[in-house]
Amino acid sequence: MWGGRFTVGPAEVMEKINASIDFDKRMAAQDIAGSKAHCAMLVKQGIISPEDGKAILEGLDTILREIQEGRFTFSAALEDIHMNVENRLRELIGDAAGRLHTARSRNDQVATDFKLWVRGAIDELDKQTGLLISALIDQAEKNHDVIMPGYTHLQAAQPVTFGHHMLAYVEMFGRDRSRLIDCRKRLNECPLGAAALAGTSFPIDRHATATALAFDRPTANSLDSVSDRDYALEFMSAGAIMAIHLSRFAEELVIWCSQGFGFVTLSDAFTTGSSIMPQKKNPDAAELIRGKAGRVIGALNTLLVVMKGLPLTYGKDMQEDKEPVFDAADTLILCVTAMTGMVADMKANRDKLHAATADGFLTATDLADWLVRELGLPFRDAHHVTGTIVKKAEDKKCDISELDLAEMQSVEPRITQEIFRFLTVEQSAQSRTSFGGTAPENVKAAAKAARERFIR
Ligand code: ARG
Repeated sequence: MWGGRFTVGPAEVMEKINASIDFDKRMAAQDIAGSKAHCAMLVKQGIISPEDGKAILEGLDTILREIQEGRFTFSAALEDIHMNVENRLRELIGDAAGRLHTARSRNDQVATDFKLWVRGAIDELDKQTGLLISALIDQAEKNHDVIMPGYTHLQAAQPVTFGHHMLAYVEMFGRDRSRLIDCRKRLNECPLGAAALAGTSFPIDRHATATALAFDRPTANSLDSVSDRDYALEFMSAGAIMAIHLSRFAEELVIWCSQGFGFVTLSDAFTTGSSIMPQKKNPDAAELIRGKAGRVIGALNTLLVVMKGLPLTYGKDMQEDKEPVFDAADTLILCVTAMTGMVADMKANRDKLHAATADGFLTATDLADWLVRELGLPFRDAHHVTGTIVKKAEDKKCDISELDLAEMQSVEPRITQEIFRFLTVEQSAQSRTSFGGTAPENVKAAAKAARERFIR
């Protein structure tokens, strides 16, 4: 493609380090779409003839079919997807192929292809995340009144409902989605026509190519157009945050299905057995989702470090952008899909969840709140009184609801029999009716609202 000023070909190892075809062939469809838009525009602007344009467009369609049907031979000597396609075009249609690259460079070409690829990945991940959110809302509705311990420091804290816990993740994945959508908006400007770096002297119509490729507008600065990889970094940043959410949830599932908890049962379809211990049912999918967060975070770091300190405009370093992005996208889509399957099949064990609320004095806050409400104690004093009562129960190895009234009154004489009504975990959860609180009726309404907010 540039033989003119060279006398010898590249060293073997040069070809090896230089070639990106092994991975950038994943952008074949995007490359051909970009070339078709460019070609159509060149014809319309009178820059190439309609005959050449027709031959080019037909040739590109043929190549796309060859690639889709696995009949295309990729060559590392031709370095990347762009040159592989152009070379094949020359084989198919002859010299007219050489006119396609008028007013274009591989620098704006690769930026366009990659943006199109990332945009597609965002759309797919957004769609899959929607399905995960939907599965979580189903679980929330089914279990809106199932009481379980809520934790801080992984210490039992207050009764909450299982449905409420599911909806917490709905909020997180909902924010992840909105970050993706936000990233897509900023990404959606077309670099095609920036050429190598300075723009071109040909009378091209960048608005036309931008529209043809479903971008909102062309990018405004040619230097930035070929240097920018923000969109890839932003996609992976949003992805890394999402991977963390997936990983936290996966960790909870691992804990919840362990023998000590038994809060949920995962289906056989998302667990594996042991080759030596016949009784085992391991939560491998959850563990892998937890582990794969490392890959996504690593991919983001890889590209951040590649881009750091690169002078404008294009540098070949930037060819290192694709593998981390492909891996992050593949990993995220795989993890979200697996999580959706796991959540859809998961069974919440109502009895085990309820039984776990027996330990840990989960209604101590309800006792303190009663002292504030009924006796007018300042909350700090009520906290102290309740602490003393908890200590008594702890010494007797029973729950505070199992103490008798006299024992309570020895700490605070004004406590009445009525207090016992407020010391059940059901009553505790039911009383949390503040906006965003865990009361089963709230959860029911919140699940319905979440469906309206998140399911499009
Ligand atoms: N394979 C290259 C990449 O992925 C395409 C752009 C090459 N541009 C250049 N000036 N060498 O970045």
